[in-house]
Amino acid sequence: MTSSEASTVLIVGASRGLGLGLVRRHLERGWRVIATVRGRSEALDALAAEADGRLAVETLDVTEPEQIAALAERLSGTRLDLLFVNAGVTHNPAQPIGEMSEGEFMHVLRSNAYGPIRVVERLGELVTAGGTVAVMTSGLGSVANNESGGLEAYRASKAALNTMLRSLAVRKGDRRICYLAVDPGWVLTDMGGPEAPLDVDTSTRGIADMLEARRGQAGVAFVTHENKVVPW
Ligand SMILES: NC(=O)c1ccc[n+]([C@@H]2O[C@H](COP(=O)([O-])OP(=O)(O)OC[C@H]3O[C@@H](n4cnc5c(N)ncnc54)[C@H](OP(=O)(O)O)[C@@H]3O)[C@@H](O)[C@H]2O)c1
Repeated sequence: MTSSEASTVLIVGASRGLGLGLVRRHLERGWRVIATVRGRSEALDALAAEADGRLAVETLDVTEPEQIAALAERLSGTRLDLLFVNAGVTHNPAQPIGEMSEGEFMHVLRSNAYGPIRVVERLGELVTAGGTVAVMTSGLGSVANNESGGLEAYRASKAALNTMLRSLAVRKGDRRICYLAVDPGWVLTDMGGPEAPLDVDTSTRGIADMLEARRGQAGVAFVTHENKVVPW
C-alpha cells in the first residue's frame, strides 16, 4: 500500500491503554492516523516521531462540546475511513448507584455516553460511504448479559452509549456506514487493572482484524475483539 492510497483513521482518546494500542496497530497496517489526547502523551509523541508523518496528534476532551466543534473545523475536508471513539472512564467498583453523588454519576455518563456520541454525531460526518464508525463500549454494557451486577454507573453509561449508537445508525441508515459498539475484553490497562487476562496488543490486534473483516458491511452491531456478536 502506498501512502497516497493509505486509509485514514481518527482515534479519540489515544494517550495510553487501548487507544494507544489501536494507534500502533493501524500504523503497523499502513494507515494514516489522527490521534487525540487531552494533555500530553509521551508514548504517542514517540510513535509520531517514528511514523514518517503518518501520525498526527490533536487535542480533544470529549466532554467539551466546543473542543469537538473546533476539531471538526480543523479536520474539515478530511476523509476518514474509520472513526474510533475509545475515550472512557470508570469509577470505584464498590460504589452502588445509591451511594454515588449526582456529580460523579454525571461525570461517568458525560465521559462514556454523552461525550462519545456527540463526537460520533459531529466527526462521523467525515467518514466516507463504506467506512466505519466504532465506539469502545464494554461487555458490561450488555443489558441482556447482566447477571452479575456491579459497576452500576459504568454499566449504565455503556448501555446508554450502545442505545444511542443504535438510534444514530438507524437515523443515518442511508449513509452506508458500518457502526460498531466494540467490547475489547478485560484488558491490562490503567482501567482494567493488573488481574486482567488480556494484554493490549492481543485485544487491539483482534479489534483491528475484526474491523477489517467487517469493513463495508453497513448496519450496526455489538461485537467483541474476537468478532463475536454480543446481545444488546
Ligand atoms: N481495560 C478494560 O478491561 C476495558 C474493558 C472494557 C471496555 N474498556 C473501555 O476501553 C476504553 C479504553 O480503556 P482503557 O482500558 O484503555 O483505559 P485507560 O488506560 O484508563 O485509558 C482511558 C483513555 O480514555 C481517555 N479519556 C478519558 N476521558 C476522556 C475525555 N473526557 N476526553 C478524551 N479522552 C478521555 C484517557 O485520556 P487521559 O490520558 O487524558 O486520561 C485515556 O486515553 C474505555 O472506553 C473503556 O471503558 C476497557
